[in-house]
Amino acid sequence: MKHLLGIDELSPEGIQDIINRADYYARALVDGRWDRNKLQNKIILTLFFESSTRTLTSFDIAAKRLGAGVVNWNASISALSKDESFSDTIDTLSAMQPDAIIIRHSEYGAPNFVANRVDCTVINAGDSWREHPSQALLDALTIMQEKGKLEGLTISICGDVAHSRVASSNAKLLTKMGANVRFVAPEFLMPQKLPCESIKCFDNLEDGIAGADVVMMLRIQKERMDRGDIPSDAAYFNNHGLTLERLKHAKPDAIIMHPGPMNRGVEIADEVADDPTRSMMKAQVANGIPTRMAILDILMGG
Ligand code: NCD
Repeated sequence: MKHLLGIDELSPEGIQDIINRADYYARALVDGRWDRNKLQNKIILTLFFESSTRTLTSFDIAAKRLGAGVVNWNASISALSKDESFSDTIDTLSAMQPDAIIIRHSEYGAPNFVANRVDCTVINAGDSWREHPSQALLDALTIMQEKGKLEGLTISICGDVAHSRVASSNAKLLTKMGANVRFVAPEFLMPQKLPCESIKCFDNLEDGIAGADVVMMLRIQKERMDRGDIPSDAAYFNNHGLTLERLKHAKPDAIIMHPGPMNRGVEIADEVADDPTRSMMKAQVANGIPTRMAILDILMGG
């Protein structure tokens, strides 16, 4: 495996291998014992054309924990602002011979375009509404840690599913691993084409999370919507926000997930987001490091 461009290209065995390696690194980080020179002498270039807190920082930390050098390229001070084309920018950076490029871009398929142009490893850190494979992998690790399995679980992905690459990658991964995936969204936030045929769709949150083992909430991706289509925060929360009352419809031991950034009082109530036993948001962020260490190790560790 040279690149990580999407969940589509991964087999269930390939997904399990990454989760197993991520689990190994999660334990190793606690014990303080792992090979800190695994990626010594490797240079990793991060190219983020969209903003990021969790993904960029955790790839950076994961790479450094394995001994790699990291160069964070900054779109706003690059020659793109001097009208250089995207492909010329990629060719320029590729000529400097990094060992890997980690890219986030708003254009559909941008990481695949780059992978076809450069010699090094390319990792998709989120493209358009299409794929965010490392997020789906760290979510799978988090579910495995809490539930001990993926197969047979009912997982409701709720909110702005239409514009979410997290929903798309998670739905593909979880379906491949034998989970029952539901999409829960009002009609205007439901995708026209489902990533997998087996997904069950609900337009009502209570019905959509009934009996669920995992409730995954998503923010409204306002930056990918026309202004006129964006609902008011209060109206959205009243109709579709996850409150403790609504959560009673899920299984009593259901866990709550959110990839972040989270909009409190819009898709999720404070008391749900801050639930000390069921809210997995901090665990998801923490799992970003071992999962991305696993991805870097498998792709670049020889
Ligand atoms: C998500 C993303 O960028 O796709 N965030 C993340 O990587 N954790 C979700 C979002 O922006 O809403």
